[in-house]
Amino acid sequence: MNDLDLVIRGGTVATAADVVKCDVGIAGASVVALGRDLPRGKREIDATGKLVLPGGIDSHCHIEQRSAAGIMCADDFYSATVSAAHGGTTTVIPFAAQHRGQSLRQVVKEYHECAGPKAVVDYAFHLIISDPSEQVMGQELPALIADGYTSFKVYLTYDLLKIDDYQMLDVLALARREGAMVMVHAENHDVIRWVSERLLQGGHQAPKFHAISHPRIAEGEATHRAIRLSELLDVPLLVVHVSAEEAIAEIRRAQDRGLRIYGETCPQYLFLTAQDLDRDGMEGAKYCCSPPPRDTRAQEVVWQGLANGTFQVMSSDHAPYRFDETGKLAAGPNASFKKIANGVPGLCARLPLLFSEGVRKGRIDLNQFVALTATNAAKLYGLYPRKGTIAVGADADIAVWDPEREVTLTAEVMHDNVGYTPYEGRTVTGWPETVLSRGRVVIDQGELRAERGSGEFLPCEKPSMAVPRGESVPELDPARNFGAHIAP
Ligand code: URP
Ligand code: ZN
Ligand code: ZN
Repeated sequence: MNDLDLVIRGGTVATAADVVKCDVGIAGASVVALGRDLPRGKREIDATGKLVLPGGIDSHCHIEQRSAAGIMCADDFYSATVSAAHGGTTTVIPFAAQHRGQSLRQVVKEYHECAGPKAVVDYAFHLIISDPSEQVMGQELPALIADGYTSFKVYLTYDLLKIDDYQMLDVLALARREGAMVMVHAENHDVIRWVSERLLQGGHQAPKFHAISHPRIAEGEATHRAIRLSELLDVPLLVVHVSAEEAIAEIRRAQDRGLRIYGETCPQYLFLTAQDLDRDGMEGAKYCCSPPPRDTRAQEVVWQGLANGTFQVMSSDHAPYRFDETGKLAAGPNASFKKIANGVPGLCARLPLLFSEGVRKGRIDLNQFVALTATNAAKLYGLYPRKGTIAVGADADIAVWDPEREVTLTAEVMHDNVGYTPYEGRTVTGWPETVLSRGRVVIDQGELRAERGSGEFLPCEKPSMAVPRGESVPELDPARNFGAHIAP
């Protein structure tokens, strides 16, 4: 056996499949041995009584991204990845977000310039396609997919981002041809617009009306439509940040019919409700995100979806805006709900919240926790098995958890630039104390040890869940393929 640089000794190692008491031997950046009584390493971590888990993958977060309305996220690649690492996450997949008229290639270049010198953990990029022009669809996107940007998000709502169903079909057809994964923000734009206009006409401006303007029906309808469009072209689809029972039912129904439809949810749909948007004054602005948090019944349905496999991924959708004129209040201290930047932070809190409320309370088991927070994202986005598991040959991205440690969540504990957390004052049990990224100790007993810029870019492979490797994708031929959709 190679000399071991580091041995994590005596802990309980959990992956998406197993829970085993064993040591983890690391040489350089990789796991090289799993077993009992491994030889001594140059450095040792005593994990007696601890859980040794794959570092989390946060596959939905917004970092150093400017919103379509021009508001900049509070976190840059340094603060965001520091925050992620403190919460046990060792890979982030934020978005390189195209605004209309922009070259996608140029957008990607600019995000690299932001991330390269700052990230302390590894990162990949999804793309956001808001302008599927001929240049983008014909040249830039296929070339970027070949270069390792193999997933992209499209929006069915937001004035400046939304694509229509025709464009969605174009995007899905391209994804099918190139083997990429499409992520969809599924809410019915015209429903939201229609309700919002009437609320504003009636003088209803407060943050709580944000939730009312994004009805569950709008989410359910758009989810249904997106699934049917993907079914028409027989291409996988991942529905992101799902909050409503109606949408969950659509995803489940599609999965039961054998379609490759995947679902993602986020902590805000487990731990917040629309009531949070009705806090005093503008406080509710902190909780405005889309889709909005719903009610306690919806929370239960989301938990069920995590437990029964409807959801493959639980990411943060970290979309950080400060509660001041640079962020949530950029349109003024009394802005209407329509002018409040959408999004809540969650990079650091994601794993501890799910561990504490999910694993410790018996709603999901440890294997499910690992699958939902790391392994499935690695598989969906072409990073597996390098990331998302603890196995010989995988990157040594590992979080050593004290399953008994109690931590009260505060803005300070989050280590981000946001200045508040929606989970302020909530006490969780279980915390990642020591965190490794490619064998480097990034967090040592809660202390940051990583250098700025030490994170690396990860080009993604074509996701195996999008197109199984080696499977030839039949050409789309309306005369042949779409006949399958004509009812007998
Ligand atoms: O409200 C949210 N989720 N903001 C972030 C952007 C998005 O749609 O994911
Ligand atoms: Zn979205
Ligand atoms: Zn998002």
